[in-house]
Amino acid sequence: MSREDISGIAHADHPIKAPLDDESVGRLLGHGLPRGDERVLDLGCGTAEWLLRALATRPRLRAEGVDVSEVALRQAGRTASALGVEGRLVLHHQEAADFRSPQPFDLVISVGASHAFGGLLPTLAAAREHLAPGGRVLIGESFWDRDPSPAAIEAFGDLADLATTVDRVVADGWTPVHGHVSTRGELDAYEWACWGSLASWALDRPADPAGTQALEAATAARSQWLHGYRDSFGFLCLVLRQTPDTTEE
Ligand SMILES: C[S@@+](CC[C@H](N)C(=O)[O-])C[C@H]1O[C@@H](n2cnc3c(N)ncnc32)[C@H](O)[C@@H]1O
Repeated sequence: MSREDISGIAHADHPIKAPLDDESVGRLLGHGLPRGDERVLDLGCGTAEWLLRALATRPRLRAEGVDVSEVALRQAGRTASALGVEGRLVLHHQEAADFRSPQPFDLVISVGASHAFGGLLPTLAAAREHLAPGGRVLIGESFWDRDPSPAAIEAFGDLADLATTVDRVVADGWTPVHGHVSTRGELDAYEWACWGSLASWALDRPADPAGTQALEAATAARSQWLHGYRDSFGFLCLVLRQTPDTTEE
């Protein structure tokens, strides 16, 4: 099984691939889409769950999603058809950093995908290029809530703490107009959903080599979470507007 296959099974019960519950996602979208007729872009959209939720509740919205995963985009297309929103959603199978559009967007979303651009600030720089005047960005990024263990750093790289993360965003010319720090309940629910779904799928296939592989992957991931990063990992979503440049010539 490929990593994408495993990820698809792991997210069966938690289609948003980030530690956020449905209410948090709805609230963040509400702050990002104050009118309801916006053009929205999601860079690293995965199965386009953020866009699909926005489209399903806002009939005048139009959306585009970009991702390198053909499997995820295919699923996004199927769900869009099932919801009857496929006419308002365009999906692009390509590197997010290479995506160009002749028209700007009122909201640029990028949640849990900053590695596609080489970090948080390069992601914001890419989002800025796509923004219409007065547009907003909805960004989701990991941070260290406590000092990380070496195993946590190995899993997630060199993250900043919460205050430093927000300071960097503000220093880059953005003003947060809404924010959400994932609760311990959201963080735990996400991990249990992922590794529980994968383990359950595996246990239903005891004689299948794919089942054995999936059970090993679920066990290793659960252990890495509990022993490695549960105590230090945090996740932040921000809705951002550009700070006016008030420096005098
Ligand atoms: C953690 S998932 C988040 C998906 C989605 N934003 C969500 O919150 O449900 C990260 C996504 O980034 C995509 N991705 C990784 N590298 C990418 C790249 N270079 N260009 C576009 N997408 C990329 C992956 O395929 C995956 O779908």
